[in-house]
Amino acid sequence: MNRNRIVLLALTGAVVLAVLGNVLPKPVSAWSEAELEILRSLSLDSLPALPAAPSNAVADDPRAAIFGGKLFFDGRLSANGTISCATCHQPIRRFTDGLQKAQAIGTTDRHTPSIVGAAYSPWQFWDGRSDSLWSQALAPLEDDREHAFSRGKAAALIAGDPDYRDAYVALFGPMPDSSILDGPQIDTVFANLGKAIAAFERTLLPTESRFDRYVRTVLSPEVGEQSSLFSDDEIRGLRLFIGAANCTQCHNGALLTNHEFHNTGVISFPGETPDKGRVVGVREAMANPFNCRGSFSDDPHRRCDELEFARTGVTLIGAFKTPSLRNLENTAPFMHKGQFATLSEVLQHYNIAADSMIGHNEAKPLGLSSRQLQQLEAFLGTLSAPFASSIACEAAKNLPGACIEMADNDFP
Ligand code: HEC
Ligand code: HEC
Repeated sequence: MNRNRIVLLALTGAVVLAVLGNVLPKPVSAWSEAELEILRSLSLDSLPALPAAPSNAVADDPRAAIFGGKLFFDGRLSANGTISCATCHQPIRRFTDGLQKAQAIGTTDRHTPSIVGAAYSPWQFWDGRSDSLWSQALAPLEDDREHAFSRGKAAALIAGDPDYRDAYVALFGPMPDSSILDGPQIDTVFANLGKAIAAFERTLLPTESRFDRYVRTVLSPEVGEQSSLFSDDEIRGLRLFIGAANCTQCHNGALLTNHEFHNTGVISFPGETPDKGRVVGVREAMANPFNCRGSFSDDPHRRCDELEFARTGVTLIGAFKTPSLRNLENTAPFMHKGQFATLSEVLQHYNIAADSMIGHNEAKPLGLSSRQLQQLEAFLGTLSAPFASSIACEAAKNLPGACIEMADNDFP
């Protein structure tokens, strides 16, 4: 065989292989090593331990979680005796309320976010105007549109209820009679109530979704890409999510959020002044007397890195906190004012990525087909999980009556 013929044969072989490669596509489920790493990082198996909360000395005390759980569901902490945190953060809706803007004594100007996993976030509220769960919890109690209560009345309620008083004293020490509580003492009781509620909220953690099980099976040597837990559409949607659609730029980690603030061009309703978001929220967090640097913080070192290194400036105009994408099936409507009723509206919004009314839209137009948008939506549906929380159950095994089990079917 002369040299030319060998070259020719080799060339023909290459062409045949190339053609075959096109005719026989790789299975949709074939993930590269790099992609598998990304999938692993998004799954609950990668969720780190809860971050420490040095400004809250009772953050991980199970007695505080139980006390805080009672406060969370107690309507007496409101002007009309019926509004509790759970009025808006309803367990059955994964701690949201199904409304565009939250309603209690009045109507607020933003949408109720889920608080499942909120303990992982260094900033609370859509604009991050609180730097801890405990300082966050104080705001709705005194907001005229929410509980419309006052710190004085809250302190009096605790002092006057024997159960609450005992729980309080066990955690925080003696409590003066409410009639002689002075201003600073009232502030201390108020801050402590926030700390107990925060301890409860630290027990509200995401549970395993089909996505998490899918990732575990594709990573296992026995099953790998043979996993039947996802449909082809869901796999294509996931591929878009981590690839061409660039969602993981902001929705990353096991909670599908970077806990950062971004302008994604979501505008307010017609007739409303545009919401400036984080640019205002960061200033409020700095000025809050109940922040990590303030006198109610339990952190002896007042390190407060979040406040110290908080990003400020014009890029934060119209920026909001990236929400988790877990449990979207139960948390519509979406975005900071509930602007979108459905996930398909959300995806349309990203697909076009129009200029922002204020600030600069960081999301880039995607130009995906409607088929691809459906695939993305199919994937997002796999991130839902049944709700089950055994509040502080594990930690509180030794405390009588400590274990309050909540599951989906407890809430009609
Ligand atoms: C009237 C309905 C309503 C009530 C009552 C209410 N909330 Fe909220 N909650 C909201 C809304 C709306 C937001 C977002 C507000 C914003 O970002 O400006 C929010 C935000 C939060 C957040 C921040 C979550 C995040 O990821 O940023 C937490 C935590 C929270 N609420 C806990 C509580 C607690 C604890 C109580 C009771 C002390 C409470 N809420 C009472 C509606 C309510
Ligand atoms: C530049 C960062 C960024 C990128 C990229 C991004 N998001 Fe978001 N996402 C956000 C922020 C910030 C919000 C809240 C915006 C608001 O309320 O104004 C949000 C909100 C959402 C919501 C609403 C969740 C809720 O509970 O209200 C969904 C769903 C969502 N994004 C999905 C996606 C998908 C799917 C992609 C990819 C196509 C994507 N996002 C790309 C930052 C981003």
